[in-house]
Amino acid sequence: MKGIILAGGNGTRLHPITLAVSKQLLPVYDKPMVYYPLSVLMLAGIRDILVISSPRDLPQFRKVLGDGSSLGIGLSYAEQARPGGLAEAFTIGADHIGDGSVALVLGDNIFHGPGFSLLLQEHTPHTDGALLFGYPVRDPERYGVGEADEEGRLLSIEEKPARPRSNRAITGLYFYDNDVIGIARGLRPSARGELEITDVNKEYLARDKARLVDLGRGFTWLDTGTHDSLLDAGQYIQTLEHRQGLRIACIEEVALRMGFIDAEQCFRLGERLGGSGYGQYVMEIARSLRDAGPQERAGSLAGPRYGGLALPTTV
Ligand code: TTP
Repeated sequence: MKGIILAGGNGTRLHPITLAVSKQLLPVYDKPMVYYPLSVLMLAGIRDILVISSPRDLPQFRKVLGDGSSLGIGLSYAEQARPGGLAEAFTIGADHIGDGSVALVLGDNIFHGPGFSLLLQEHTPHTDGALLFGYPVRDPERYGVGEADEEGRLLSIEEKPARPRSNRAITGLYFYDNDVIGIARGLRPSARGELEITDVNKEYLARDKARLVDLGRGFTWLDTGTHDSLLDAGQYIQTLEHRQGLRIACIEEVALRMGFIDAEQCFRLGERLGGSGYGQYVMEIARSLRDAGPQERAGSLAGPRYGGLALPTTV
């Protein structure tokens, strides 16, 4: 399965901050926002990832993330000339997707919750149709809203409905089989001039090939599109990190835990950032894993499932 991070957009709700900087490169407490969706794909076990952004911002993403090799993954980049809608990810990314399945994550979405990586890894190997992730919200009328039966089959999907049929917002993480490319190519722009992801999902629904996984109330899903939600997200991450002494969406740690890099490589990545608490943390994690007993080390490097050092089944 290939991955795509969609990190373009205008970020108009964050003006004037985003007049010169991509929203997805703004800090969410101690790291750039794009680290969070990148961690999600890495925890799903996806190592071949396309970052899509605007011509203005793409060079900055390259500077921040590079080619991914230091994290044991492959990162490539593509431009979205203007924000033509989320479903454009599949036409822009068609060559990258090739003939397999794809996971799309929006660059401004933050996911955090127990067992998340296991949940993702369960679904990555055999994506048939569309797999959407729903999250209970107080104000579903602001979102795409999905309704599913007891087996998780999607029954309806509506964009910003005045009278929502459920309180399940569709989050910015989507798994699709290869049909998504053809479906996206066949879309017409909506009234607001965008290729809508909801129209992709409606096509899968019409084919009876759409499923909705409920992330549940123990989970956290945040978006960061407004001044308040950006600050809230930063404070949420700060609170958890201070309390636990663990970092959320630390991509170097995720790479280590997933076995994409070894402890030495991880340590060197931390050294480069050593002037910050973040870099110190990366070095500490690398050191503790290197010095761990063989059993503990084997467990951790085999993936989060075995929880050698009890990290990170969440991002
Ligand atoms: P939005 O929050 O809908 O749009 P935006 O980021 O441009 O912000 P605003 O509404 O304040 O102008 O986008 C959701 C995510 O998808 C965000 O990470 C940006 C990304 N995106 C693209 O990369 N390309 C697009 O064409 C669109 C519509 C969004």
